[in-house]
Amino acid sequence: MLIALKLAFLQAKMRKIIVTIDGWSSCGKSTLAKQLAKALGYVYVDSGAMYRAITLYFLRNHIDWTDLSAVKQALKEISLEFIYNSHSQQSEIYLNGENVEYVIRDLVVAEKVSEVAAIKEVRQFAVAQQQKMGKKKGIVMDGRDIGTVVFPNAELKIFMTADNAVRVERRFKELYEKNPNVTIDEVKANLEMRDYIDSHREASPLRQAEDAILLDNTNLTEKEQFQKALQWAHTEINKKS
Ligand code: DC
Repeated sequence: MLIALKLAFLQAKMRKIIVTIDGWSSCGKSTLAKQLAKALGYVYVDSGAMYRAITLYFLRNHIDWTDLSAVKQALKEISLEFIYNSHSQQSEIYLNGENVEYVIRDLVVAEKVSEVAAIKEVRQFAVAQQQKMGKKKGIVMDGRDIGTVVFPNAELKIFMTADNAVRVERRFKELYEKNPNVTIDEVKANLEMRDYIDSHREASPLRQAEDAILLDNTNLTEKEQFQKALQWAHTEINKKS
């Protein structure tokens, strides 16, 4: 207890930075981001959850997202919030007051989210909220454009990648636990499609920021990648501002 208090006191006194983690789908960005946020005493924000929640709203309300005026109107009706859940020990996303943290992980949402996330107005809506959340620093945010567009001046930018086959297998295992009917081919096709749309869209396509550190975790364990990233974060935190 005393040690935890001392640690919290020391963390509060330290220089706070912004850590951005971008990269391809299913590279383990959120796992690393959560671990880092916990170790540093920072807030973790899953920006992908915002695009997924918006997609869920569009699907549920039959919004035609090829119709710009329908999109603009729908965005006015959407309120997104992250609330910390002490049981799961993580922030969970709420869409208009409803916890949608788990339903947004369904393949039905995953199949459409890249299309929705490619819409400029949707991105402006999400980015404005993400930038607000980073005002006080002390934040780890993962996504696709966090180091390039949301926080171009972030102190630590990490860009994650891994072999395609490894990513497909990891994602398959994750989805299979929730739905044993899912096939590896479905997961592979979905990943390929999302990678393509995310990196070829006009509005803020996925790309590595020039000053981002590349982290290829094909042959790294979770612990090894975490130790590397934590070391990078400490180096930044200890720099004079
Ligand atoms: O990280 P994820 O798989 O939950 O992201 C869901 C989708 O949202 C993904 O296909 C790309 C998009 N996305 C984005 O365009 N920009 C972000 N900052 C985060 C996610």
